[in-house]
Amino acid sequence: MQEYNVSFGDNEIALAVERFGSPLWLYDIGVIEKRIWDLRFFGVIRYAQKAAPNINLLSRVRHMGVDVDAVSAGEIVRALRAGFAPNQIRYTADIFDRDALALIKEHSIPVNIGSLDMLFQLREAGIKVPLAIRINPGFGHGHSNKVNTGGEHSKHGIWHSELEYAVKKAKEFGFKVECLHMHIGSGSDYIHLSQVASAMQRAVDSIEEFTSTLKIISIGGGLPISYKRDEPWHISMDKYYGIWDATRKEISGVAGNYLQLEIEPGRYLVAESCVLAAEIRAVKKMGNNLFYLVDAGFTDLVRPAFYGAYHHISIIHKNKRETNEEVDVIVAGPLCESGDVFTQEEGGVVVSRKLPLAQVGDLLVIHDAGAYGSAMSSNYNSRLLAPEVLWEKGEFTQIRRRQTFEQLLENERDESL
Ligand code: LLP
Repeated sequence: MQEYNVSFGDNEIALAVERFGSPLWLYDIGVIEKRIWDLRFFGVIRYAQKAAPNINLLSRVRHMGVDVDAVSAGEIVRALRAGFAPNQIRYTADIFDRDALALIKEHSIPVNIGSLDMLFQLREAGIKVPLAIRINPGFGHGHSNKVNTGGEHSKHGIWHSELEYAVKKAKEFGFKVECLHMHIGSGSDYIHLSQVASAMQRAVDSIEEFTSTLKIISIGGGLPISYKRDEPWHISMDKYYGIWDATRKEISGVAGNYLQLEIEPGRYLVAESCVLAAEIRAVKKMGNNLFYLVDAGFTDLVRPAFYGAYHHISIIHKNKRETNEEVDVIVAGPLCESGDVFTQEEGGVVVSRKLPLAQVGDLLVIHDAGAYGSAMSSNYNSRLLAPEVLWEKGEFTQIRRRQTFEQLLENERDESL
């Protein structure tokens, strides 16, 4: 029996697959609740829904007192559909596309600007909404270069030395700047995340005439989780909160206002809550290497292929067959792509993993898949999006049905037919 962060075990996973098919995403809402509780000292918890945007999850976190971030028109629509009031949503991006601008205007949704052009476009469109300014502090950090969102090579945010100009212009155009925001990357570490506090302090000090409209300091997301079972937690939440609370107090003094501290986690809230369950469909040897080929691929979970990300993997033997034998194995999916491998490191280096000996028909479980798992799935190779199922109080609820072939093709037209 495997030890999970989630409250379901092998039996429940096998039952869920029996009922809803394979592959599938299984979430434990209790884990999300616990993670929200960990962050209770922050004035505002704003869920970065890009990590797992199912409207059922959104609605549940809303009931737990959490606000929401939206990075696209689609995410605004999801947040509204999940019952968030417009003032509980903040649009954070570096551009507006036309759909996003129209929705922001229609619903008066607060905006976090990541470029000066966004400010000019808001004015041009006659939109007056509360503003946040996302600052690029000149450095960043993340679990992979692809998720580092600060520094000169990043497209995100307004460069720190332009902050004063942005604040001045916003005031001149009649906007209320109510929030300063920094997000340096995803899956960062304690040292880098803590450095953001002094960068925020410097940014505020650089503004000569401060705006009395400031209400919130947002420290972005980026909190890591431990993907490896033997890895300790990187973050001491007490220490992390302590550093930020001290900064908040100092900045409150400069701004002459009581400021709230806001945190914007995605991964931290949902990563550990979910597994991706798949069925082993082939076991084969390629020279010296043994492969388990499963019916989920990078069209389901792209993180190993895209970032070389590590996910813990376990096996559930069919008919409760017991075996203690372990083998070195490469776990791969069904796609017509050599990179469709779950056991790989950054740069696409395929590696093997010690796993229990398994057969066709056994289940393979990929853990901690709740953040950027289902959210990053695609229809490549015309594969259908897998269902999402929630485990709550001992019951399964399907919160997304498996896509159908009809749905896959519904927007395509062949005039000859
Ligand atoms: N706030 C902003 C402005 C962000 O860009 C992000 C993530 C977050 C908050 C939430 O970050 P988190 O707490 O989840 O680290 N697909 C990648 C992660 C990309 C993160 C993008 N932005 C992955 O699978 O690791």
